[in-house]
This record gives sequence, C-alpha cells and structure tokens, in this order.
Amino acid sequence: MTINRTVRPSGTTGSAGHAEAIRRDGFAVLAGQHLRAQLPDPEFAALREAWADLPVDEQVAEGVTYRRRRYGRVRVVLGADGPVVTPLANTAFRQDTIPLWRGRTRVFAPVAEEFLRSPALRFLLALDAGLARDLSGITDWEVGLHLVRIIAQPTSAGLPTPEGRHSDGHHFVGMHLIRRDNCTGGLSVIHPRQGPPVESTLTEPLDSLFVADREVTHEVTPVGAENGTGVRDMLLVDLNRWRSDDGAPTDRPGGR
Ligand SMILES: [Fe+2]
Repeated sequence: MTINRTVRPSGTTGSAGHAEAIRRDGFAVLAGQHLRAQLPDPEFAALREAWADLPVDEQVAEGVTYRRRRYGRVRVVLGADGPVVTPLANTAFRQDTIPLWRGRTRVFAPVAEEFLRSPALRFLLALDAGLARDLSGITDWEVGLHLVRIIAQPTSAGLPTPEGRHSDGHHFVGMHLIRRDNCTGGLSVIHPRQGPPVESTLTEPLDSLFVADREVTHEVTPVGAENGTGVRDMLLVDLNRWRSDDGAPTDRPGGR
C-alpha cells in the first residue's frame, strides 16, 4: 500500500471547516486537544471508565481475545437547545455489506444506560450529529455506539479492523480515540474514491476521524505493543437517518 499523504488532526478550522473537508474529501481528522479543552476532566474520566469493563468480543473468531467491546443505541434529535439523546433497546447486529460478517447475526454486550445519558457522550454526539446535519440537512439520527478495546502484547498484535478495508454501511461514522497506551501501529488509512490512500494516526485523547461512509473506505493497521501490554480504546459512532414513516428506527447494519 502506497500512502502519499499524511493528515494531521486539525482543530483550527471549526465545524464548518471540517464539514467542508468532509464534503470535499469524504473525511476529516479532528484534533483531540481542541475537543478535550471543551470537556471537563471529571466528565472525560467518567467516559473512559466505561472501557474498563468490556467483555471479549467473541464474534471475531474462536479463541480471539484481543478485542473487547460493548454496543449501545440512541436516537439523537438536534434542536435549538442542542441534542436530545434517547436511549434505545439493544439489538442484534447484521453487517452484510462486509464479507467477513455476511450472513452472521452478532450480539454484543450492551452498554449501561448511565453511559448513554452521560455528559461526555452527549458532547461527542453533538459533534458527530452536528457534522452529519451540516453535511446532509438531517436533524434526526439513529446512532449505534461501539465501545471497542484492542489489546496488544509484544508477541501478538491486535487487529482494529479484522475485516480489512471496508465501509460500514452507514451514512456517516465518527471514530474517537479514548485511550492509546503503549501502542505501536494503529494507523488509520482512508481510501478516497479517487487518488491514493491517506494516512492519519490518532494519538491524543479524542483525536477523531469522521467519514462519509458512502464516499470512502477505511482500515486500521495492526496495533502492537512496545513492551508490556498495549491498549487502544475507541468509540465508534454510526449515524443513520431516523425513519419515522413507521415509527421505528431503521434496521441498519453497522459497526465493525
Ligand atoms: Fe469501520
């Protein structure tokens, strides 16, 4: 894979600049430092705590233990006073757009409702749904939340995207780095429809990648550990338009 362009997280352009970049390139990389500055320390600490209690994702393959995860769902409606976040029931999961998961119904452990109602999550949902609104004009979203931890050992890497290069089958996807300790690798690679792939490495807390999932594909290189155990925690936010025609959310595939 030849990568001709490396993108550094940007926090100087504001949401309008990021939306413009996503419209043009299909993605944007947002600086975590800028986002962290808007979030009180106790709220971010509480958010991070949720990753301390993730069960092994048994859906990857038998015997694989390097990935841990939980899954949650909310409806996000953007209004004049910010987002209204409503927790939804956990559901089984299909992602037939990706060959590795085709034909498989996956069930993940749910996240606590306390997490779904937390201020830090609301902050990130305001960011993601706000970008999605700026790009589409849509204010009502069905959102899937994936809390994922990749664990690497010196003798065994962890794969953030065992499915390889893919798109997730959503309208937009926000990917937020929650923690990266003692890791090597883990480069995010975005493949535009045209031109060479672009690489960016999320290194600081809340460094974020936002993609127009229909416009680009993405993958993440294996995560290694320099010594001891490496830990890479991500919050993945799937955004799909809420369908109100039958009063029920869309039954979308999602996640990774
Ligand atoms: Fe993905």
